[in-house]
Parts: sequence; structure tokens; C-alpha cells
Amino acid sequence: MEQQEEGRRDFMGMALGAWAVVGGVGALYAAKRSWDPLPSVKAAGFTTVEMNDKKENELVVEKWRGKPIFILKKSADMEAHDRDVVMNGSRFHVSIGLCTHLGCIPAYQSDNKEFFCACHGGVFDVSGVNSPGLPPPSPLEIPPFRIDGTKLVLGESGPEYKKMLDAGLTV
Ligand code: FES
Repeated sequence: MEQQEEGRRDFMGMALGAWAVVGGVGALYAAKRSWDPLPSVKAAGFTTVEMNDKKENELVVEKWRGKPIFILKKSADMEAHDRDVVMNGSRFHVSIGLCTHLGCIPAYQSDNKEFFCACHGGVFDVSGVNSPGLPPPSPLEIPPFRIDGTKLVLGESGPEYKKMLDAGLTV
């Protein structure tokens, strides 16, 4: 009878222990979830883009803070500009892909090597500079960026971006 009682106590002990372990794991999971940034916070942060695989004269559109980001690797025949992001000897045009007139998304025309905004006929060259006499009042905006080896970190201000900002080239 006493043995039976002891066996029951052992079983209760083990069951309680297992329950405590499961509860502990659940609590840890819940705690981790509360530490993780919300998806909205992640979206508002930074975006890292590998630049090594980009092809000349081929527009790549990334997304940062809900905005389209134009990345265009310049070919040798495209004029260099102080707005270019220079990485490992290659030049890139990087900008927020929203027309500075009323915010439409311009299309890249690789044959003409220019951005054309169909909304009101705005044109930007491969450095994102607006053509005079057309509706867009200013060049395509350059987002904050930091160079990290072969990667571009959008949303962080590195020395190359700060230099452009100080020179008034980002807008
Ligand atoms: S919105 Fe682009 S030209 Fe008007």
C-alpha cells in the first residue's frame, strides 16, 4: 500500500516536472516574441542590398520604408556624377524612385538611358538629374546609405552619404 502511494507520488512529481518544462519553454517563446521588433518596425528600419551581382544598364528596384529604391549600375559610357555611389570601382545611381513632381514612379528606359515619368512627361538622366523645362523641379532624391564591403545599407548614413548631403546633392 505504501509502495503504491510512493509510486503515485513519483508519477505526480514527474508529471508536474514535465508540465513545468513545457510551461517554461512557452514562457521563453512568448518573451522572445515580445523582444522581437514588430514587422512595422522592421519595415521602417534599414535594408541591405548586395551590389556585386548588379548588371550595367539594368535597373533594380528595391524597397525601403515602403518606397521604391532605384539601383542602376552605370556603364562606362554613362557620365560620372558626384551623386554616384562608388563601390569597388563601379558607379551606381541610387535614388528613391518617386518623381519629384507629384510622386509617380518613373520608368527606366534602357535604350535612351533615362528615367521617364509618364504622368506629366518628366525626364531624369542616369544620375537622376531632372531635365530642365519639364515638370519635375529637382533631381530624384538619394536615400541615406552606408557602404559595407560589397553591400549597400539603405537607411543608415555613412560618410559617403554625409558628404553628398553636405554638398546638397541628395535632393
Ligand atoms: S509626377 Fe512625374 S512628371 Fe508629374
